[in-house]
Amino acid sequence: MEEERLVSMDSVPEDVDSEASIRPQTLKDYIGQEQVKANLSIFIEAAKQREEPLDHVLLYGPPGLGKTTLSMIIAQEMGAGIRMTSGPAIERPGDLAALLTALEPGDVLFIDEIHRLPRAVEEVLYPAMEDFCLDIVLGKGETAHSVRLDLPPFTLIGATTRAGYLSAPLRDRFGVVCRLNYYEPEELAKIVTRTAKVLGSEIASQAADEVSRRSRGTPRIANRLLRRIRDFAQVKNDGDITLEMARIALERLQVDRKGLDHIDHLLLSSIMTKFGGGPVGLDTLAATIGEERHTIEDVYEPYLLQIGFLQRTPRGRVVTPLVYEHFKNEGLGGTDLS
Ligand SMILES: Nc1ncnc2c1ncn2[C@@H]1O[C@H](COP(=O)(O)OP(=O)(O)OP(=O)(O)O)[C@@H](O)[C@H]1O
Ligand SMILES: [Mg+2]
Repeated sequence: MEEERLVSMDSVPEDVDSEASIRPQTLKDYIGQEQVKANLSIFIEAAKQREEPLDHVLLYGPPGLGKTTLSMIIAQEMGAGIRMTSGPAIERPGDLAALLTALEPGDVLFIDEIHRLPRAVEEVLYPAMEDFCLDIVLGKGETAHSVRLDLPPFTLIGATTRAGYLSAPLRDRFGVVCRLNYYEPEELAKIVTRTAKVLGSEIASQAADEVSRRSRGTPRIANRLLRRIRDFAQVKNDGDITLEMARIALERLQVDRKGLDHIDHLLLSSIMTKFGGGPVGLDTLAATIGEERHTIEDVYEPYLLQIGFLQRTPRGRVVTPLVYEHFKNEGLGGTDLS
């Protein structure tokens, strides 16, 4: 079973509670993703001038990078209402029809995890996206006939962490496709500083830098680390988040200078000590550290691949020299870490 990690990119219940208050509300407050923002602001401006809804938008990228946040901002900037749902929640075509017919003209329909829409629902979505109409089949067998229902013009915003799982016909119906990327440390430092202000805390700029370097390029992780450090600072230091306070807290939280936690350490050190640095097959590795194969692939590996600590080769996983250097700097032996 996968345990809850402080550096998990997926949201945990506590994140959901606090995200509502710390989400930026306007494009101006949305930090980073400059290219995406620049393009979107032009499309939004143009649509508003034509008094038309914005073209359908697909946002994709790893968890916690701001897809949901950006969708809410788009609706806000368009001056439109937003209805939020997700792929798995729309089980039957009728569920989608109910959502679509309840929209006001110009509204945004946000479908999270859109790659998980059932096939039959997807087919109803095509004419809705293209012509703002629904084809509904009434009756059965011989008497079955379809009627066409007009819909209010709307903007569909789809979000997915798995753009590759989207069917080509669905992907092609989005006029605007934006990929969100991992954030630079400087951008994360701005996000952390902004969040601290929203939470009513003071954070020293060096402390914000320290948090941002350990946040795996991900705002959700940066905000989560900030909340924990803030607890330490409140109890030990009258609430002020100094560099020293941040370091002490991060040490206690066992998040190292690259944002790695004990699970990353275990995975990497196993490859180093038990398999001579690799290559080692995924199944063997999974058995060695007692994890599911898909958890390693989907949850643990992406960041390690991203920072060049791990490589996937045809013969298995290999750790790179960067890991040996990092372990030396962190004072980790590469053994006995479990
Ligand atoms: N560009 C940004 N500027 C400031 N804060 C941000 C930014 N992007 C994300 N955040 C913060 O990070 C948190 C996570 O963002 P969000 O929920 O939008 O991610 P997501 O991409 O939808 O994740 P998931 O794939 O898990 O649904 C939010 O609380 C938000 O406040
Ligand atoms: Mg989301």
